[in-house]
Amino acid sequence: MSGQVTVYNCRPFDEKALFEKYAAEMELELVLCGDAPDLANVSLCSGSRCVDVITSRIDAGLVRAFHEQGVEYITTRTIGYDHIDLEAARACGIRVGNAPYGPCGVADYTVMLILMSIRRMGAILNRTALQDYTLAGLNGRELKDLTVGVIGTGRIGATVVRDLSGFGCRVLAYDLYEKEEVKQYADYVALPEIWKEADVITLHTPLTKENHHMINAETIRQMKDGVVIVNTARGALIDSDAFIEAIENGKIGAAGLDVVENEFGLYYYDHKADILKNRELALLRSFPNVIVSHHMAFYTRNYVETVVRDSLESCRRYMEGSDNPWEVK
Ligand code: NAI
Repeated sequence: MSGQVTVYNCRPFDEKALFEKYAAEMELELVLCGDAPDLANVSLCSGSRCVDVITSRIDAGLVRAFHEQGVEYITTRTIGYDHIDLEAARACGIRVGNAPYGPCGVADYTVMLILMSIRRMGAILNRTALQDYTLAGLNGRELKDLTVGVIGTGRIGATVVRDLSGFGCRVLAYDLYEKEEVKQYADYVALPEIWKEADVITLHTPLTKENHHMINAETIRQMKDGVVIVNTARGALIDSDAFIEAIENGKIGAAGLDVVENEFGLYYYDHKADILKNRELALLRSFPNVIVSHHMAFYTRNYVETVVRDSLESCRRYMEGSDNPWEVK
């Protein structure tokens, strides 16, 4: 065996069998845990040089606790790694890796949320469920008549731009770095032009200190009346209070939110019988023109297979000391 890996949040219904298959092929020993890592279960890492996590918060206290157990490498079965305190990891010599997977799953989902939002699909489904087959208030818009602003044209954003080109809409793009392939289908513009021109705005940047709350009262004020916002990136790109106010006063016409602020600890658990302390989420869920899903955009068969395999492969390479393309530098 080439080493032991402790896997947290291991889902029995889709990941467990794959973890076992790939660990056998890579000659790794596994400790599988269905829960998120915390100070109570961190001892499961004892004997593991590597831990494998998803998007639960890995704060400085937990990083230090991993270190005390002998952990040297944390891999996350996600693209984003802002849930891991990288500074704390660096401070105790723990290295971090991610497991990027193909962008098409999130891009498909984004286009779906755009279409659902402009066609009022949330309200349509609510009515259909109650056998209310009326039309009033359900009139939609056609994508070919709209301007879509894509913020962030990395792997996912660029795929969204390409996909949108098939619908005949005008596409504006913004990124810190421009990509030649995107220019075939979209015009790069400055952010204020996106706010001013776009009927639909979709977010595809990582969350950074610079773009925290990039959608806020001031930027919303500059947008078109009835603008549609789609967020499949990170919740904190949007200031929820300002956003809710703009839904309430009609400035924002519709939204599709796969991510919300403060979703840690909520998503991927059954909270049916719980009183939740997330008023923003409760309000957002209450609006008929807002579709909220629980950070699902990534969740395809292709994703599961890829992240299980690559996160283990990155642990194997770390432990072997061989080239590890998944390590976050
Ligand atoms: P990527 O790293 O390929 O692209 C990100 C792009 O954002 C880059 O082109 C970068 O230059 C740009 N960028 C960074 N900061 C910016 C800023 N302040 N303003 C404008 N552009 C900026 O990442 P990828 O794979 O396209 O993923 C994008 C984001 O989508 C991830 O960081 C993650 O937060 C989110 N995501 C959400 C998922 C879901 O299930 N809802 C699944 C996967 C990713």
